[in-house]
Amino acid sequence: MTPTEDSFAPSTAEWYYPSEDISRQAYVTDYDALYKESMEDIEGFWARQAESLEWYQRWDKVLDRSEAPFFKWFVGGKTNIVLNALDRHVKTWRRNKMALIWEGEPGDKQTFSYWRLWQEVNKFGNVLRGMGVKKGDRVTIYMGRTPELIIAMLACAKIGAVHSVIYGGFSENAIADRIEDAQSRVMVTSDGAWLRGNIVELKKIADEAVKRSPIVETVIVVKRTGQPVNMQHGRDYWYHDLMALPIASPKCETEVMDAEDPLFILYTSGTTGKPKGILHTHGGYQVYTSTTLKYVFDIRDEDRYWCAADPGWITGHSYIVYAPLILGATGFMYEGAPTQPYPNRWWKMVEEYGITILYTAPTAIRGLMRFGDAWPNRHDLSSLRLLGSVGEPINPEAWRWYHKVIGKERSPIMDTWWQTETGGFMITPMPSVGLKPGSATRPFPGIDADVVDEEGNSCPPGVEGKLVIKQPWPSMLRTIYRDPERFKQQYWSTYAQQGWYLAGDAARKDKDGYFWIIGRMDEVIKVSGYRLGTAEIESGLVSHPAVAEAAVIGVPDEVRGNVVYAYCILKAGVQGSEELVDKLKEHVRHEIGPIAVPTKLEIVASLPKTKSGKIMRRVLKARAMGLPEGDTSTLEE
Ligand code: PRX
Repeated sequence: MTPTEDSFAPSTAEWYYPSEDISRQAYVTDYDALYKESMEDIEGFWARQAESLEWYQRWDKVLDRSEAPFFKWFVGGKTNIVLNALDRHVKTWRRNKMALIWEGEPGDKQTFSYWRLWQEVNKFGNVLRGMGVKKGDRVTIYMGRTPELIIAMLACAKIGAVHSVIYGGFSENAIADRIEDAQSRVMVTSDGAWLRGNIVELKKIADEAVKRSPIVETVIVVKRTGQPVNMQHGRDYWYHDLMALPIASPKCETEVMDAEDPLFILYTSGTTGKPKGILHTHGGYQVYTSTTLKYVFDIRDEDRYWCAADPGWITGHSYIVYAPLILGATGFMYEGAPTQPYPNRWWKMVEEYGITILYTAPTAIRGLMRFGDAWPNRHDLSSLRLLGSVGEPINPEAWRWYHKVIGKERSPIMDTWWQTETGGFMITPMPSVGLKPGSATRPFPGIDADVVDEEGNSCPPGVEGKLVIKQPWPSMLRTIYRDPERFKQQYWSTYAQQGWYLAGDAARKDKDGYFWIIGRMDEVIKVSGYRLGTAEIESGLVSHPAVAEAAVIGVPDEVRGNVVYAYCILKAGVQGSEELVDKLKEHVRHEIGPIAVPTKLEIVASLPKTKSGKIMRRVLKARAMGLPEGDTSTLEE
């Protein structure tokens, strides 16, 4: 790895400083001092944060390293994340504060005070208990962006069940695999979801998935879109029917959980076709997510905070559902597409609801930027105080547009680097830190991040290397569900001797200690910020009877970050045609989901492979982009 002098060259980056009124009133006004203090005593730092939360019983030990890399946090502590997210608030003035403001794509609205949300969660917790769901049972949730999704997650947590939320953009096979892996007997879904003025028929897709994974015994269906759906007698129940039963009492005992008891599984893509069930727990996760949100987005009681992610991904789990509620904040959620019916939908809602903090992904910013400045300029966006970005590196051009046109050069942008596995922000600015467009700046207090070479030496400024985390943190993944070996192999084997966590991203640090994330080093592609595995899409393609072999790559795209290109070798005797290409794309949509559909699918006679038979995706990518193929000495087509 050699020093590079490209457009990201950190030394030439411009600086942006947050305005005095924003930085002076922030919770953290001196990042350097706080960071230093945290690193001198990491456990003490996290223990102090944990003290601001409620525990049924205080922990005996902050961190147990005895079975590393299976670290344990707040050992002996008894809690429940819902104790902190809801139960404690309804005993204070916050009971009548707005917890959630929601707008559906067709324009319908709902609001939930902390009191009402607590009651709905209690009711659904009782329904789940009545259905036989017990502590430790896994419940699959597959829904659109509606309040019931949040209610279902919190109800599971409250009764000690483990939720496994599947993003509404996934299809049959992806869902079936996840149900199977989690061994989940109960599923919560809805008849449909609104997207771009159309109905996505979620129940239909859920039915197909359950057919493939018949372990599911009970399906609870929220009525959202209202079209007729198949309801199987004895298996399927309407949510509203169950919530009207006497069993759905608004009082529900919160299960006392061990700090290390599982809270949720969230499946994410890795290097093999099988998705990884990332496991998070009650104790450390509640401490970490609430601390990071408070300090980075400077959450105040008067804020109207909008994280525009989907609750079906980690960003939604941590920063739509759990952290804002723990902090007693008012959150906003919108169901549909940013351009429905016009490209001003987001800006209109920012104005209407007086949004003060907007947290979204570069792909959304680039997508809206395409429509020009006139759409946002029609609206009064002066309520915005802080902006955020997540999911992939934000290109400086999009950063500047977001800063100027949306933030009116007043609102600093919190470019937060983190992962499903990390549970919360890891490398991120705070409102008092100088910004450089395209850099996630520096590690959060308590986080020991570095960029290292193969041997583990810190890379000098400007030199690309592997991003590692050298010390455990409270919301780290505890394992890959039912696959502890893979957990060790994937994250802890590269720097086993040092005991460091391997993030899987390439990065550089500059002379000011700022981190510049380059992107994934493995077979993971970020499409519109969504994480997909090449192997997942390849096995989807190979499951079609016409395909013998498939290779998938990510190719840079101006709006979506990356798009999927696929190359298929057909089985002997099968004729390639335009029609077959369309069929194969449709097959991927059906098997995995619309986000995984290749933009380009080519039928080829051979694939570039190494002598040992590994597909050289690097060569395919160079060819697709019209770049030199590099070292091809091991190539054997
Ligand atoms: O490559 C990094 C990229 O997203 C990956 C994690 O994806 P996922 O688990 O889906 O979580 C996304 C939301 C937290 C990382 O390995 N990534 C995430 N945030 C950034 C980023 N790359 C650059 N800058 C970011 N701010």
